[in-house]
Amino acid sequence: MLRLGVLVSGGGTNLQAILDNIHDGNIPDTEAAVVISNNAGAYALERAKNAGVPAICISPKDYPDREAFHRALLEKLQEYKVDLVVLAGYLVAIPAMIVQAFPNRIINIHPSLIPSFCGKGYYGLKVHEAVLERGVRVTGATVHFVDEGTDTGPIILQKAVAVEQDDTPQTLQRRVMEKAEWKILPMAIRLIAADAITVSGRRVIIKEQNT
Ligand code: GRF
Repeated sequence: MLRLGVLVSGGGTNLQAILDNIHDGNIPDTEAAVVISNNAGAYALERAKNAGVPAICISPKDYPDREAFHRALLEKLQEYKVDLVVLAGYLVAIPAMIVQAFPNRIINIHPSLIPSFCGKGYYGLKVHEAVLERGVRVTGATVHFVDEGTDTGPIILQKAVAVEQDDTPQTLQRRVMEKAEWKILPMAIRLIAADAITVSGRRVIIKEQNT
């Protein structure tokens, strides 16, 4: 059984997609062991509770410094015996200490086709604003392993989404979530749970072809 620790900061629609896919049997041998937010008001915590999953807030505000905050987060993941950490709209950078504790065992969903519109400063609506500003015709989402950089880890899955003429950052964000994020994040977890993924340097090799 693959035990997930899902880290969230906001509405939790990606978390919901994971919970629904587990419930529907699309991600076998996997359970959500714990959901952790840095933000006590995150609606994602309600979604976790509604699904009967332990929902915990670990906020930097409750710790004397960043290191103590990071240590508390790591200890909680270990306490729940998490095998795979899923960053599902988590707006806190993951420190080296946690990356090293979970080598190729942390994945993130990013709302663009990496290496475009990623790295420091590209999060949430800012990504979609930059896409519209640059005028690209195609954007999308990427699931990747987390390494010590920002959006630099090996890429697992990507899905393209068309940019429409009259898009606003909000309409584009919604389309990228519906058509890409909510599909490829659960799919990546399914592949990892099935041991269908091998990481070779910066490249991910997927053994199952029915993705
Ligand atoms: C998603 O667009 C995700 O890619 C981004 O933050 C958003 C989170 O949405 N980094 P939600 O909390 O899963 O609804």
